[in-house]
Amino acid sequence: MDGFEQARMGRAAAGRVTLRAWLALLAVMVYAMVLVGGATRLTDSGLSITEWAPISGALPPLSEAAWHVEFEKYRQTAEYQLQNRGMTLAEFQYIFWWEWGHRQLGRFIGLIAVAGLAWFAIRKWLDRRWTLRLVVLIFLGGLQGAIGWWMVSSGIGETTRIDVAPYRLATHFSLALLIIGVIAWYWMDLGHKRREPVPAWQRWSAYGLVALVSLQMAGGALVAGLDAGRTYVDWPRMAGEWVPQYYIDPLLGVRSLFEGRAATQFNHRIGAYLIWILSYVFVWKVRGRALGGPAMLLAGLVTAQAVWGIMTLIHVAPLGLALVHQGLGVLVLLAALRLAWRASAQSSASSLASEASTSGRVSAPASTNTT
Ligand code: HEM
Repeated sequence: MDGFEQARMGRAAAGRVTLRAWLALLAVMVYAMVLVGGATRLTDSGLSITEWAPISGALPPLSEAAWHVEFEKYRQTAEYQLQNRGMTLAEFQYIFWWEWGHRQLGRFIGLIAVAGLAWFAIRKWLDRRWTLRLVVLIFLGGLQGAIGWWMVSSGIGETTRIDVAPYRLATHFSLALLIIGVIAWYWMDLGHKRREPVPAWQRWSAYGLVALVSLQMAGGALVAGLDAGRTYVDWPRMAGEWVPQYYIDPLLGVRSLFEGRAATQFNHRIGAYLIWILSYVFVWKVRGRALGGPAMLLAGLVTAQAVWGIMTLIHVAPLGLALVHQGLGVLVLLAALRLAWRASAQSSASSLASEASTSGRVSAPASTNTT
């Protein structure tokens, strides 16, 4: 290898390390964002800011008069009129800071993401595939901001809602999961871990577990959005019944599956039992093989999450327990993605040499990952 070639390889390696560190930073910030978002919901703070001002909203009210203007806008909401009448300015400021903090962190993440992409582009570190991948990631982040506002707007204006619409909450939460999942996948793609090709049934089972966990998480957001976790608070039965009487609410019909407190919570429980059983069946099937470790980690986290879910439920979803259930849920999803990533190699074709592209730019390995 001549000196020129060595310099190109070195540039690719440096780019890869920096890109990976940047992705890790983004993942940590998105994780924090999920937790702050959860706290915002659990403290009933989400409707305290009644406008969407992505730029000017970065500045909070700076004077007593400005605070009163904000408070007056909040007083027009159904949440204030029907639930929080008589709230003091200090109480309003408490919920305002949660929502403002959530939005501000979003702005900060956006800034780090765009600045990073610009830096990588200037240094010419990215090949076309990675440029596209990062642009898609940043687009998803922007979309998340817009969906966040779409969610908040469901509780503002001509409405009797005192909380945001559960479907919109579930959409916002699911997109957050997609974003952190995409970041994690990219991060693994750029890592040093070797992916060994596994039989197709193992690969598809791992993908199936990711799909089930994702559905379970979106269903959990519906439970949370409907406050269903505070309606049926006994376990293993629900209000003393194995199958709740109002599983199908006559007023909602088939919509009960998404809008009924009994059905969403019952399905969340059954989903958890199913994932728990399947994750251990998978552990058993792949024991002693390449996927054994990642499968075991997933099954362990699912167990912890299910136990924590039960604790959350029987204590009527207090802030601390519910927040840990949400945060642990994200870790369950990441563990499922790690398993799927390890299972995703279809051949052992690519090699270290193929990854250090001739242009000296960061490029993604096609299947088996070695650098
Ligand atoms: C694979 C296992 C499980 C996963 C991945 C999971 C995931 C989730 C997620 C992501 C949420 C939404 C959190 C939010 O948006 O704030 C949630 C909510 C909830 N889950 Fe689970 N869950 C699991 C098992 C369970 C079990 C076994 C129970 C109880 C029997 C349970 C009870 C609840 C309750 C009560 C809520 C609503 C909490 C609130 O109001 O904030 N979960 N779950």
